[in-house]
Amino acid sequence: MIDPINSDQKDVHINLDRTIERHLHRPWIKPVPAHTRHAFDKAMTWWRERGRPTLILDSFCGTGMSTAFLARHNPEACVIGLDKSSHRLSKHTVESPNYLLIRAECESFWQCLVHENINIEQHWMLYPNPWPKAGQLKRRIHGHPSFPLIKTLGGQIELRTNWHIYAKEFYQACEQLGIRGTLEPFAPATPMTLFETKYLARGHGLWCYRSR
Ligand SMILES: C[S@@+](CC[C@H](N)C(=O)[O-])C[C@H]1O[C@@H](n2cnc3c(N)ncnc32)[C@H](O)[C@@H]1O
Repeated sequence: MIDPINSDQKDVHINLDRTIERHLHRPWIKPVPAHTRHAFDKAMTWWRERGRPTLILDSFCGTGMSTAFLARHNPEACVIGLDKSSHRLSKHTVESPNYLLIRAECESFWQCLVHENINIEQHWMLYPNPWPKAGQLKRRIHGHPSFPLIKTLGGQIELRTNWHIYAKEFYQACEQLGIRGTLEPFAPATPMTLFETKYLARGHGLWCYRSR
């Protein structure tokens, strides 16, 4: 199958191990922007008012199609969808009492959750931006200094991507954090997101990482 991603990388990034090692030993400390703090407080108030302790996070949710899907399939839980793009979020029209879409940078939002000792039940990361140039490793989820936070947040992690190298890097980076999981080619019966729908229509191969 042809790789749909145009990259100067032919395999897992040569500096991946070293990057994760550095981030493991130098925890990411960045002041949380005021707008993210505000968004976080709003999300926590909403969650506590629901009286449903199970929390599911849909990071990089785009238009929130997957957030609504997860809420439908987990009626006992509260689902929070996070995306930094107000444009994408504004395309969402449906509403339901057990999910909330929030405009925020995921990394700072994760930091707030960790700071409040909040554990999540499931963590979904569907089709994050690939940042395909080798020089862009630090912009990928696993290359960012906030990456170790995902272990502290806990929960079952699922990442999907149409770039095999990204999937392999994510798998390897999780192993380095001590998170065990599986990586497999994947063909969803029902697309969960707009990007998934688009990639399937184009015949792209999809990859799915699931933690155990
Ligand atoms: C390729 S889109 C995928 C969206 C959706 N998950 C889907 O599959 O349709 C990636 C999304 O990540 C969002 N994004 C990128 N970096 C982000 C960050 N640091 N924090 C929050 N959202 C981010 C973008 O705004 C975009 O909506």
